[in-house]
Amino acid sequence: HPELIAAGEKVFKKCAACHKVGEGAKNGTGPMLNNVVGHPAGKVEGFKYSKPLLAMAEEGLVWDEAALHHLLENPKAFIKGTKMSFAGLKKEEDRAAVIAYLSTFAQ
Ligand code: HEM
Repeated sequence: HPELIAAGEKVFKKCAACHKVGEGAKNGTGPMLNNVVGHPAGKVEGFKYSKPLLAMAEEGLVWDEAALHHLLENPKAFIKGTKMSFAGLKKEEDRAAVIAYLSTFAQ
């Protein structure tokens, strides 16, 4: 869906202060997000996650589409005590678009 991916690239501007994607992406305030979609949470090398995120990762949290929708709708509700300081994306279509965009950086 090229239109969805293009829309997601625009939505990602809200994430880009803290997250990088693409070749050579580094961690910043947040972990780099290459290979996040479809993969276990809390696994980016060299990033210091919050304890609550690591606890959910240990319980088996995988960033599938459903989990990403929950996180992105309201990060602090989905992970109580997360250090991701982001109000969330209230529009379902914005969440779907940014997830589609992130999928292009995942295998
Ligand atoms: C974690 C996505 C906005 C800071 C994460 C994770 C995802 C994500 C998928 C989990 C990564 C993993 O398990 O490796 C997004 C998206 C955003 C966004 C798509 C925009 C729609 C932001 C913003 C900030 C931020 C604006 C900073 C103000 C963080 C931090 C973590 C995190 C610090 C680690 C959380 C923890 O350890 O509890 N983000 N994020 N994010 N994000 Fe974001």
